Amino acid sequence: MTITLRDKAQARCSWLPDLDAWRALHHPSSNRSAADNKTPRYKALADALAAAIQQGELQPDTRLPPQRLLADALEVTTGTVTRAYAEAERRGLVEARVGSGTYVRVVQADDRPDFYHLMAEGGDGSIDLSLSLMVPCPLRLQSLHQAMQQVAADPQQLAAALAYQSERGQPRQLQVFADWLQRLGVKVNPEQMIITDGGQHGIFLSLQALLAPGELLVSDALTYPGVIAAARELHLRHQGLPLDEEGLDTHALERLCQQQRPRAVYLMPDQNNPTGRVLSPARRQHLAELAERYDFWIIEDAVQFLPPEFRLQRLADLAPQRTLYLFSSSKILAGGLRVGLIAAPAGILPRLMAALRAHCWMAPPLMVALTCAWIESGETDRLLRWQWQEVQARQQLLGEVLAGQVYSRHPAGFVVWLSLPGDWRAGEFVRAAADAGVRVLAAEPFCVGNQAVPRAVRLCVSPPAERELLKEGLLRLKHLLESPPQGRAVF
Ligand SMILES: Cc1ncc(COP(=O)(O)O)c(C=O)c1O
Repeated sequence: MTITLRDKAQARCSWLPDLDAWRALHHPSSNRSAADNKTPRYKALADALAAAIQQGELQPDTRLPPQRLLADALEVTTGTVTRAYAEAERRGLVEARVGSGTYVRVVQADDRPDFYHLMAEGGDGSIDLSLSLMVPCPLRLQSLHQAMQQVAADPQQLAAALAYQSERGQPRQLQVFADWLQRLGVKVNPEQMIITDGGQHGIFLSLQALLAPGELLVSDALTYPGVIAAARELHLRHQGLPLDEEGLDTHALERLCQQQRPRAVYLMPDQNNPTGRVLSPARRQHLAELAERYDFWIIEDAVQFLPPEFRLQRLADLAPQRTLYLFSSSKILAGGLRVGLIAAPAGILPRLMAALRAHCWMAPPLMVALTCAWIESGETDRLLRWQWQEVQARQQLLGEVLAGQVYSRHPAGFVVWLSLPGDWRAGEFVRAAADAGVRVLAAEPFCVGNQAVPRAVRLCVSPPAERELLKEGLLRLKHLLESPPQGRAVF
């Protein structure tokens, strides 16, 4: 028996994918046609690496086989292995160390995936239910176009848009936002508002203005990943507390306050992202009392903005001297505008303005002018009413398609928190869904600290352009939910 180069290489490789499966699908002599096997080899190899890492077969800090050796072992070009390693690196699984090779990344407990890569992966034809984006609508583009023309045709507005201005925004613009919110059922004082570069910026500014490094921030144990990232950047201690059908467990918060001093509590009381849970009126009241008794701030995030009939009393109304209310145009008009607001007690405004100055001086005046023109045209209200109805119809559709499955969501919200049945693990389900052409998010990015990651995924009903596309995506997920995970066949 002759020993081939392949045999020798295989003997020397510290890790190999399942060779039988690889040969069956990717070996040149395989009788599977190219059409049967649409996954490019480099991607299949990256998937195999991902699975080996996830299953613990490849431990953190393990050196991957040299590229040339693995290429010989699998009878592929070195270029294929290089691309596979690059793809695994892009997914955050491995890292190339100069002069030393490629290693499985040592993942910190609080490492989060890069959200941009999720967006950048779009355009591959899959149905994206992963990100909470506004519902696509032709009216949005038309009315943006009109608002741009309107700003462009007004020399005064143009000149103002080019000028530096007060950190908070021009008084006229603040009034436009206050009037808009008033029409939407939220009473804010334009004198106590600050315009931000979107909701995420509002979160960061609030945390920076309220908490010093090392101070304690409390939130739901499952929360918006942006607040986890901001707390980490600001070196805050961040503790998640359990949430149930009534939202954050304020009794757990009370017990915590008896031992420690949280400086601020961040919440999305009308609709927690990712679970869709609502903070009950009794818990709101309790939270406001605790804030007073234990002297902490409340950051009320209303970026996932609901129709008025679904909104409960704002924390900002229950504890007006202690609450920063965050709003953004991102989920209504467009995330790319980067225009949001903080309505805050007067005493904290100077700190917010100082933080804003240090970041960017002011939100870009041109974008703010454009957003105001859009709001003043009245088209934003039309768009919002349409979107609110559409989202409720989509949630109803989801209820029909996923009948019998276990999930939580707000009937008028974008997000759905889907518990996985049987043996499904979240990462595995996300990959299987991707293979079926549907993108959803695993639970991990929403988990505060190093708590056990729930076997759940988050999906959003809003991104597909058409309801039919959403239905198709949900049907594919339903099919997966009703099937057991497919062993560990990686290729
Ligand atoms: C609860 C919550 N807050 C804040 C943000 C960030 O908003 P923006 O895109 O305006 O920065 C998001 C975006 O998904 C969100 O869901």
